[in-house]
Amino acid sequence: MRDRLIVALDTDDGEDIDWLSGTLVEVVRWVKIGFQAFSTLGTEGFPWLNARGHKVFLDLKFHDIPNTVARDVNTMTKHGANMINVHASGGLEMMQAARDSADDAAYEENIPRPILLGVTLLTSIDETGFQQNFGSERQLTKQVVYLAQLAQEAGLDGVVASPLEIETIRKACGDNFLIVTPGIRPKWAESNDQRRITTPAEAIRRGADYIVVGRPIIEAEDPLEAAGMILDEMREG
Ligand code: C5P
Repeated sequence: MRDRLIVALDTDDGEDIDWLSGTLVEVVRWVKIGFQAFSTLGTEGFPWLNARGHKVFLDLKFHDIPNTVARDVNTMTKHGANMINVHASGGLEMMQAARDSADDAAYEENIPRPILLGVTLLTSIDETGFQQNFGSERQLTKQVVYLAQLAQEAGLDGVVASPLEIETIRKACGDNFLIVTPGIRPKWAESNDQRRITTPAEAIRRGADYIVVGRPIIEAEDPLEAAGMILDEMREG
């Protein structure tokens, strides 16, 4: 389970990042870097975290024209990001360009290809929010599965999706397609702004390959203990 829990280091405080990553490496392999942590660490953060024993998920959710995303992904692969995501709604051509450029960069640097993920729909959006924000009559789950299949067709390794859609995506995309799920809340944590949520045990039971947890760990009084409790819950699943 150590390899399947990703901790979101959602802070721009360098000391916090240093302390959290140094402490959590005892029990957690993957950390996730968003704009906040990236603004502090820069690309130096990849080798620095790798040297500590972490793998790094760069969560910048690229969403731009194919040429720009291809260059973004190429640069980040060269600097050593181990997992990178792009918005699946950027389209098939954009995702294919991202895949090709990530593979080219890995080949040039003689490093493993990064795991490339498509973001389907943010876990903070529920059915009503989806209809309001996207003006769509389509069911939210249908949209998520549609985007997951598009990501698969483009050659991406998997998707980021809510735990509530794991089983449907699994059925549509098969066992070799990675499903990474944020929106995880143990019973003892607050839900904050997350809407489509479940517990760590339930996400694993439903078939998530990785779960992403931020605030329940990084804002806990004892982050190491919180991570340990979540790992125990994952084992139950
Ligand atoms: O603090 P919390 O556990 O809610 O953190 C979840 C993390 O996963 C955040 O960094 C958030 O940006 C990210 N995320 C998400 N929903 C997605 C994609 C990423 O919550 N669809």
